[in-house]
Amino acid sequence: MNQVIDVLMKRRSVRAYQKREISADIRAEILQATLRAPTAGNMMLYSIVEVTDQKIKDRLAITCDDQPFIARAPMVWLFVADYQRWFDYFIASGVEEACRQKQVPMRKPEEGDLFLACCDALIAAQNAVIAAESFGIGSCYIGDIMEQYEIHKELFDLPQYTFPICLLVFGYPTPEQLNRPYTKRFDEKFILFQNQYRRLDKEEFQEMFKEHESQMSKGQAREGIANFGQAMYFRKFASAFSMEMSRSVRLIVDEWKNESAGKLPVH
Ligand SMILES: Cc1cc2nc3c(=O)[nH]c(=O)nc-3n(C[C@H](O)[C@H](O)[C@H](O)COP(=O)(O)O)c2cc1C
Repeated sequence: MNQVIDVLMKRRSVRAYQKREISADIRAEILQATLRAPTAGNMMLYSIVEVTDQKIKDRLAITCDDQPFIARAPMVWLFVADYQRWFDYFIASGVEEACRQKQVPMRKPEEGDLFLACCDALIAAQNAVIAAESFGIGSCYIGDIMEQYEIHKELFDLPQYTFPICLLVFGYPTPEQLNRPYTKRFDEKFILFQNQYRRLDKEEFQEMFKEHESQMSKGQAREGIANFGQAMYFRKFASAFSMEMSRSVRLIVDEWKNESAGKLPVH
């Protein structure tokens, strides 16, 4: 096993941190490795907002579905899918006038651009995760940053063509975190297909979730939850936080499609 594979295989999410700062040198190396991530068209369609203000960390610990460990992380980076910078650059480059002369409408960022920017931001984020891990620094994704759009937009002054796609919290793991058993993954035969997508049938689901089923508690049966699928449906998929995330993401997408916004800021 080479060193890169070793780091990848040993990574796990870390949610409790030592009271130890990440040095400026190591932070700089993590940042440089992050910025080397592949990026669509070499456009770097993302921004990183480093959260150093404890008051903002405290706020995020509440707005991101009440996860107090966010406030205790020594390093917190918000990854923002970002078409605003390029759109502002197009405007600053006189593209509006150029389009008028060519008698074509000026295109604005749309759904495809949003997805591409999200890809960029997430790929960069994962570089940060692995770079940090290589220094023994743990991390955890916080997907709940996609919730509460109104609050996060104001908190970070996010303009129209941005999307707070993930929050990453970093820190040196406590010994307990390092001794936690690894989470298991599904067998590759349920994940990797050849040439074409294949939907799984009921028997395959039984095999795929056999271990999960065996760990179902008696309490869940008492609550009328018959199996792992039902447990996950109610606990995750149909939970309040999932519904809030969808509401919030819908607002962000609507914001991207709002025709009236999009002017260059005046400094
Ligand atoms: C997109 C995404 C969002 C996540 N959001 C959260 C989160 O809000 N809170 C949290 O504690 N973990 C979060 N996680 C971490 C997952 O729970 C974790 O990766 C998963 O349980 C597997 O465990 P492992 O990373 O330790 O292998 C997130 C992971 C991803 C990829």
